[in-house]
Order: sequence, then structure tokens, then C-alpha cells
Amino acid sequence: MPFIIAIDGPAASGKGTIARALAAHFGFHHLDTGLLYRATGAKGGDPVLAAQTLTSGDLNRSDLRSAEAGQAASRIAAIPEVRAALVDFQRRFAAQEPGAVLDGRDIGTVICPDAPLKLYVTASDRIRAARRAAELGADEAVMLAELQERDRRDSERATAPLKPAADAVVLDTSHLSIADAIARAIAEADRARQGP
Ligand code: DC
Repeated sequence: MPFIIAIDGPAASGKGTIARALAAHFGFHHLDTGLLYRATGAKGGDPVLAAQTLTSGDLNRSDLRSAEAGQAASRIAAIPEVRAALVDFQRRFAAQEPGAVLDGRDIGTVICPDAPLKLYVTASDRIRAARRAAELGADEAVMLAELQERDRRDSERATAPLKPAADAVVLDTSHLSIADAIARAIAEADRARQGP
């Protein structure tokens, strides 16, 4: 049985960095599921069709990291048919040996509810805005407004809203260095791999 690590959390919480580090540490596959929604939002036209016909070329577009692409992703991610069109791809990815790390908003709650380790990575909105501003070379106040709008939409939508799974381990990275956050995540994964 492949080992699945499900990571959810709001934008700029550190979940992507932690997911990549866990995948490298354990030799697992990694999928940033936000990219699926960003690529779908960027394709324009009929979003359901766009989600159904994503190719690796769509996922490698260099413009997907922008704040605008994040907003477009968050908007189309509220459409239940778009989410449904992306489920199989994510579950097939998660089933790869020897294991997989998926990060997003609904991995522990909807896509992989049986994952033996679910992490909910979060941080205060001000700290997340400061991180995103540094990363994109943008204004902190603008980033704060952008993140708050996206968090609200992602948490309040009816289908697969952002929330921790009941059995998720919450990791607040507000006052943790990247190295410490990764060390804690690895410790949780080691514990989960030993079984209950
Ligand atoms: O993780 P990200 O910031 O790249 O995600 C962009 C948007 O995509 C996010 O605001 C909401 C949506 N998303 C989602 O609804 N479900 C996921 N599993 C991943 C992302």
C-alpha cells in the first residue's frame, strides 16, 4: 500500500515547501494540486472542459504563480463540476508506490480521507502576506487583501471548503523557521508510518 501524506492549508502557509521537503525526504511523489486549479483557471473558456483536458504543458506554464492566477483558480475552484473533473487524476496520483504527498485545500477531507497522515498547515494572515509579498516582490497590504479574499472564498464555498480534517495534525508555521517546520512534519510522518 502506498503511503499518502495529505497536506491542506491556506495560501502561503508553507504547505508547498513542507510538501516538497517531505517528498524529497521519503522519496515520494509530490503533487501541488493548486496548480491543477491555476491551470484550469488560466485556460479560459469552459472551465469544466478546461479541467477535463489539462495536459502537462498546461501545468508548466510560467504565469501560473501570479496573484491573478491564484484568484482565477479560487473562483473556478468553487464550481462543483470543475472539482469533480479533477478528482480521478488526484486519486490516481496518490496511489503511486512507494507513496505520495499531495497539497491543497481538500486533500484530507475529500480526495484522500483515508491518508494515514493529514497535516493542516497554517500561519497568521499577516505573516502569510509578508511571505507572499517577499516572494512575488509585491506590496504587503495588497497581498494581505488578496489572501483574505481568497481564504474567505475557499473556506466559505459549499463544495469541499478549506478546513482541517477531523483527524488532521495542525502545524502553525507563524513563528517557525522553514527548517523547524520541515523537521516537525517529518517527525509526524515517521510517527504515522509506525502505525497507530
Ligand atoms: O494552493 P494555491 O494557492 O496554488 O491554490 C490556488 C487556488 O486553487 C486556491 O485559492 C483554491 C484552489 N484550490 C482548491 O480549491 N483545492 C485544492 N486542492 C487546491 C487549490
